[in-house]
Amino acid sequence: MLDLVGLTKVYGDLTAVSDLNLHLDPGDVFGFIGPNGAGKTTTIKMLATLLRPTAGDALVNGVSIVTQPEQVRGLIGYMPDTFGVYDDVKVWEYLDFFAAAYRLPRERRGPVIEEVLELTDLTSKREAFVEELSRGMKQRLCLAKTLLHDPPLLLLDEPASGLDPRARLELRDLLRGLQRSGKTIFISSHILSELADVCTKVGIIEAGRLVAAGTTEEIIAAAGLTRTLAITATAGLELIEPLLAGRHGVQDVVVDFAAHTARIGFAGTLDDVPDLLLTLLQGGVKVTGAVEGASDLEGLFLRLTRGQVA
Ligand SMILES: Nc1ncnc2c1ncn2[C@@H]1O[C@H](COP(=O)(O)OP(=O)(O)OP(=O)(O)O)[C@@H](O)[C@H]1O
Ligand SMILES: [Mg+2]
Repeated sequence: MLDLVGLTKVYGDLTAVSDLNLHLDPGDVFGFIGPNGAGKTTTIKMLATLLRPTAGDALVNGVSIVTQPEQVRGLIGYMPDTFGVYDDVKVWEYLDFFAAAYRLPRERRGPVIEEVLELTDLTSKREAFVEELSRGMKQRLCLAKTLLHDPPLLLLDEPASGLDPRARLELRDLLRGLQRSGKTIFISSHILSELADVCTKVGIIEAGRLVAAGTTEEIIAAAGLTRTLAITATAGLELIEPLLAGRHGVQDVVVDFAAHTARIGFAGTLDDVPDLLLTLLQGGVKVTGAVEGASDLEGLFLRLTRGQVA
């Protein structure tokens, strides 16, 4: 669906994006994570054919952003990091304008606009003026705009910035829905944890270079990141520590007897979870619940971007 081949952008003597190579399959949700100035927006603008690469290329469904930008535009929906100013334009007019720009036939525009309004939960705002929308609504409107021509690839530059926690969750659900409908999504953020459970792949960019890329699992494993297993048990909590003492990969065990819970920190993969649980169950711990979570994604981000892992 998307291939980056040595994609590079140089501004004067600054290499903003350096030799990016990446492959995304249809249905992938790629989280593009990096600190301010890392080169995220520059990369996305190149993919959106708004900025010409200094070297390298990217192929969207095999179509080159360098030699066939016109064709690429039909395949992508681009959501910029800043929302332009539109005075005296109503929500539906805004969408109608872009639908026309994407050359949707007049009779198709009405139904398509209703559809994207519904999808982004803006139906009740169709007659509102764009400048009267809250920030979160503007972001959603911007997302609605990218969906008008039903592109297979979405390029979203920090769609979650400035959203409240609830709006972030809603955005996450929306992204999941779009993924289910078969879209490939390229999404940038500063915040890894925000994306970790929607993304199928993650890339971490620092000073224009991709310092780590792969499935979320791979990144976590490569960084030797701690996972946590939170356990609830009706009895046998006191057995957990002795059972796991000296076990490879287990880093710490914190038991809260009053709450009947324990947290086990371990370095490893998801496949280690059943083994850990089996040890506990066979050892006599009456486990009633277990939840695994990749912890400390923020910490991972900091370490990766300091180059400690790369
Ligand atoms: N038009 C430009 N001319 C010169 N340098 C630029 C230009 N646009 C961006 N840069 C530089 O390129 C680098 C990457 O910028 P970019 O906007 O891609 O970063 P970003 O990862 O999107 O950051 P942020 O998280 O702050 O949005 C920065 O050092 C920036 O100063
Ligand atoms: Mg940016």
